[in-house]
Amino acid sequence: DDFSGEGVWRYAAALPFSEGVSLPEGNTPLHEVPRLRESVGVNRLRIKHEGMNPTGSFKDRGMTVGVRVARELGVDRLACASTGNTSAALAAYGARAGMETLVLLPSGKVAAGKIAQASLHDARILEVDGNFDACLDIVQELATDGDVYLLNSLNPFRLEGQKTIGFEILEGFRADYGTYPDRIVLPVGNAGNTAALFKAFRELVAADELGPDEVPALTGVQAEGAAPMVEAVESGADEVRRWEEVETIATAIRIGNPVNAPKALPGIRETGGTAVAVSDEQITDAQRALAGEGVGVEPASAASVAGLRKLRERGVVDADEDVACLTTGHLLKDPDAAFAAGDDPEPVANDVDAVRALLE
Ligand code: F0G
Repeated sequence: DDFSGEGVWRYAAALPFSEGVSLPEGNTPLHEVPRLRESVGVNRLRIKHEGMNPTGSFKDRGMTVGVRVARELGVDRLACASTGNTSAALAAYGARAGMETLVLLPSGKVAAGKIAQASLHDARILEVDGNFDACLDIVQELATDGDVYLLNSLNPFRLEGQKTIGFEILEGFRADYGTYPDRIVLPVGNAGNTAALFKAFRELVAADELGPDEVPALTGVQAEGAAPMVEAVESGADEVRRWEEVETIATAIRIGNPVNAPKALPGIRETGGTAVAVSDEQITDAQRALAGEGVGVEPASAASVAGLRKLRERGVVDADEDVACLTTGHLLKDPDAAFAAGDDPEPVANDVDAVRALLE
């Protein structure tokens, strides 16, 4: 297949190669959500739905570059630790490249759709009796010893691909409004996207393609039960303290040690952004609100909208702001969360009158 020039690879000039192992990825929708915009109370609101990538999350943008690098290096085995989406993307892109993949998952804490993907795309799946951070510790050690090639977001080539989220948001806003968004709100786990978007904007500023004052304020959202970045931003600390115990319905961002924090914290600070923590209940409310406009996302993704709403209520975000929220993964990734947030199916007799009676 030749997907050069499409999606992520439309931005080849900003990437280390001109083409990758592609399915293809990128070019995701920037949805309008008029009712949500009205209820949150901002000037403009668009949803960059990364769940519309080939494996249903933004991870594909990183893997198309990262797996290409691995193939170039001639490594034998690709590996990642994952809360689920990275493992699904690595399995698919590894399969595409005909390479062996190994994924380490926190046992019992990965949504069903993601394990199903990793399984069918033929990754070797190891379920670890520990959280994501423990899985990443192990994979990092394997990579250091040369047993595997690491494709977590610690791998800088992943972040190169993920920069294209920022390029697409800026282009989309400029095409529709002639201006750039004031703020980009995104869920934060390992803070890879935060770091990648910051790098994308720095490169555009350095190339005189974006004014220093036009850089959107990077605004990170974490779940209250896994919010080490928020803690650091709120306290003004230079380093992020690792949380050993983490818990949230948004299992994708159930992370206590955001490994890209050194790259992401300056991004939040230097763009005039901030970080905020939201409850599981606020996440589910936001997931329902998005679904009510036809945009189906997994819980971690809805955190961005929940965070925006909270910051607007606090007056941190102004009513006249133009905002883009990133939704990072598709609804089908986590069917259990969707069932829990949505209405239950109703049993009915095989009879038209019985159906009609229920409608009254
Ligand atoms: N949203 C979703 C749906 C994710 O899967 C992740 C990370 C994030 C947000 C956080 O992004 O790390 O760039 O801040 N998932 C990783 C995984 C950890 O293993 O799938 P980040």
